[in-house]
Amino acid sequence: MFEKEQNFIADKITQYLKTNNLPEMDVRWAWIPFNGQWGISTSFFQLAARSFGAEKGNVAQKANEIAQGVASAIEMPAGFSKIAAVNGYLNLYFSPADYSRRVVDEVLSAGDDYGKGQPLGKRVMFEFSQPNTHKAFHVGHLRSAFLGDVLSRIAEAAGYDVVRANYPGDMGLHVIKWLWNYLKYHKGEKPEKDITRWMGAMYAEANKRLEENPDLDAEVRAIYSRWDKKDPEIVNCWKETREWSLIGFKEMYEKLDIKFDRYYFNSMFEEPGKEMVAELINRGIADDERPQGGAVIVKLDEKLGLKEEKFRVIVVQRSDSTALYATEDLALARQKFLDYPDLERSYYVVDVRQSLHFTQVFKTLEIAGFDWATRCQHVSYELVNLPGNVVMASREGTVVLLEDLIREATSRALEVVREKNPDLSEESKLKVAEAVGLGAIKYPMVSRDSGKIVTFDWETALDFNGQAAPYIQYAYVRANSILKKYNAPLPESILPDDQLSTSEIALIDLIARMPGEIQKAAKELKPLTVSNMAYELAKAFNDFYGQCPVLIAEEPVRSARIRLVAAAKQAIANSLALLGITAPQAM
Ligand code: ARG
Repeated sequence: MFEKEQNFIADKITQYLKTNNLPEMDVRWAWIPFNGQWGISTSFFQLAARSFGAEKGNVAQKANEIAQGVASAIEMPAGFSKIAAVNGYLNLYFSPADYSRRVVDEVLSAGDDYGKGQPLGKRVMFEFSQPNTHKAFHVGHLRSAFLGDVLSRIAEAAGYDVVRANYPGDMGLHVIKWLWNYLKYHKGEKPEKDITRWMGAMYAEANKRLEENPDLDAEVRAIYSRWDKKDPEIVNCWKETREWSLIGFKEMYEKLDIKFDRYYFNSMFEEPGKEMVAELINRGIADDERPQGGAVIVKLDEKLGLKEEKFRVIVVQRSDSTALYATEDLALARQKFLDYPDLERSYYVVDVRQSLHFTQVFKTLEIAGFDWATRCQHVSYELVNLPGNVVMASREGTVVLLEDLIREATSRALEVVREKNPDLSEESKLKVAEAVGLGAIKYPMVSRDSGKIVTFDWETALDFNGQAAPYIQYAYVRANSILKKYNAPLPESILPDDQLSTSEIALIDLIARMPGEIQKAAKELKPLTVSNMAYELAKAFNDFYGQCPVLIAEEPVRSARIRLVAAAKQAIANSLALLGITAPQAM
């Protein structure tokens, strides 16, 4: 926002250094921690050290000398209120009124783009969600879906080209069990409605039968080998039933406003994965223990010459030669880089239980000599606990289906909306309830450190007064309703009164920090940076709202505040958009 001024002063510093026969320096600005006044600063320590060359000298003293010299040589540029040399640093303070006008003007002219970074010309991929076909889409899948979606939104805002990839588990033992149960007991049946629920129920049924009678396992294995030989009956049945699951998933993603650029499927990687394993055996990286009745394995620690157990042993193909999860992951990782050779990072958003799996897969690829292997990264997250200690296990069918959770969230939100805003039309109430309900589910999943378990409870999720989506949405609605009452085009850019109140300053400061926070969140892969920011913004806006009259203030304060309200509304909307949460027009 202040590049022009920063460059202007940097030029002055360069001139000063030249005139005084000092080495050149690359001027870097850092923000001075906010303390009622905004300012930037640059350090002269490195330059001072270099100025001595090989000789010894007092670096701190020299840095201070240079800072003093620069400070007295520079005339104060417009928009600043103070220049000071302090302990080897040059500090420049903005005049608060000027600064706040700049921030507000910038937000209002950038609009929906406020906070976004310049295109970086770098591509990253996030693989996330990855539900399994032939199973229920349940609440356990939500954190990956939301984290991956929000990480993608943040990376995009930070300037990356983002590829959103899904990797549905459309093949594996779970699918084979499902097919066995279907062919044996339900052949010809089709789900009428509520596809995902039906698919999930059939899977639970298959498991129940197999648990009651373990002898049936042989039949399941027979189906697996028919699948492996591409028996048309199995392949066709799989194709048809898989489609049912995929239709159900698409409906879910639409509801959640989650999009994918690319679908990879487990089934696509069985054969290429086996070929890679054969190659690993040929090159002496994998040990083929199938002749002795064992599997194909890679003894990672041994290959790496490690004495202590670290990466252990990974099984890359089953003893009966069928592909397993790891076989497919080897080929999937390679395919991603064939499709996008310029991928700077290939992220896998998958829960923490699979950490060892990914460490082993990526290590195997590294040993195999793929130079992109080190660009693969597992982004792990902890699990979600639901109210009433519901445990998620699709094997037993004890899962809370996503659609049920959404239904419950919406109906709870509707109750709150009815109470808060009885005058709203029934149709608007429903729309608001949907936005509030979905926000209530999403926010807790992305606002907690990914390494910590989320314990979901309705009270917190639907809190209008605490750190939750409805509180943020409500702040947005408040800003919106002030502007509705004002009901005129926004006033022209205006320099606010010199005496900005503390709540105005705090709000402006948060708004100004937004672009930096987005970059930080993208770099650290931390959505919670953004969810905190959204909450802090809402809170700062509410403080301002409680302390500063807007429409009844005297000019020119009134105009400046109206513009600030519009800027705050935009900033809150943009941060909600990064979280994939709808900003309702009324509540
Ligand atoms: N479908 C898998 C599961 O439910 C997650 C897939 C993760 N991605 C991967 N490349 N392995 O456990």
